[in-house]
Amino acid sequence: MFNSLSRILAREQHAFLSRDRQEWWNHLARIQDFLGEGLNQANRAHPVLILGAGSGLEIPWKQAPRGTTGWDADPFSRVRTLLRHGRWAPWVFGDLTDAFEPLRLAAERSVQESWSGRRRRLDIAQVRLAALLPSLPMEPIALRRWIHTHRPGTILAANVMGQLAPLAQRMLERAFAPELPWEADAEVPDRLHEALERWAERVIRSLLKALDESGAELWLVHDRAVLESASALELGPFTLDWKAQVKGVPRLEAWDPLCGVEVVAELATRTSLRQERWFWPVGEGQHHLVEALAFATKTP
Ligand SMILES: C[S@@+](CC[C@H](N)C(=O)[O-])C[C@H]1O[C@@H](n2cnc3c(N)ncnc32)[C@H](O)[C@@H]1O
Repeated sequence: MFNSLSRILAREQHAFLSRDRQEWWNHLARIQDFLGEGLNQANRAHPVLILGAGSGLEIPWKQAPRGTTGWDADPFSRVRTLLRHGRWAPWVFGDLTDAFEPLRLAAERSVQESWSGRRRRLDIAQVRLAALLPSLPMEPIALRRWIHTHRPGTILAANVMGQLAPLAQRMLERAFAPELPWEADAEVPDRLHEALERWAERVIRSLLKALDESGAELWLVHDRAVLESASALELGPFTLDWKAQVKGVPRLEAWDPLCGVEVVAELATRTSLRQERWFWPVGEGQHHLVEALAFATKTP
């Protein structure tokens, strides 16, 4: 149970839970309202699945139908949910993407020669790994199998999709420690970083494809962008292009946790049930733009 991914996640979850909640009560209220509606509307004839269920801080488990299953690779997530909500829910522990173990192995093999155990020079390891990333497998096999077996009527993705790219970065940093895998010189193109972004993009697309093909009603909430701005930011009416919705800054300094994937475009054949965005102030001058999108069922 305590593999490399679960150890990283347990630490990240600790950091997530230790944040100053006063700053984000508004975010918590909105996310709980959104996910709560998904749970209330769920067709009771089919199971409900919550991806990235974590400790349930964002999830109104009281509204979850009996048998609702949590899925989270953090080994403490289920027991934390029990402590928070008094609910011992069926649970799947494991990587919902099935992409992180191949990533870890590729990173470790790039850093160290398997036959001699000798550490490779940093630039050689970076090039090797960047070349390996495009061919790594990334089919969410376990998730597809679960969907095939249980036929969920509703799937919630609770703030997990935007975590995948940063998690992958943490995993590479662990494999390369004590060095950093990234280009130190900002003027030099960082080929490994770019290759990792493309890797994360493929992971997110594969995940969305599996969710789409499940046919289930989807309630997805995730970080859409991380924006740096000393001044206050405002949001106009919802637009498909999130950049057009952000007002108040002449030039947008943004990081895209979804690595270019537009969820609405990926699920274009679905009927939208609800779509909204809001800001989640996380740190000094840092604003997370949260996106909440719900889609009706579709015949698989
Ligand atoms: C930002 S937290 C969401 C918190 C959670 N919704 C809650 O209410 O506590 C992201 C969650 O996704 C989980 N997670 C991230 N990547 C995962 C993966 N590849 N497979 C399974 N769970 C993952 C983390 O362990 C964490 O609990």
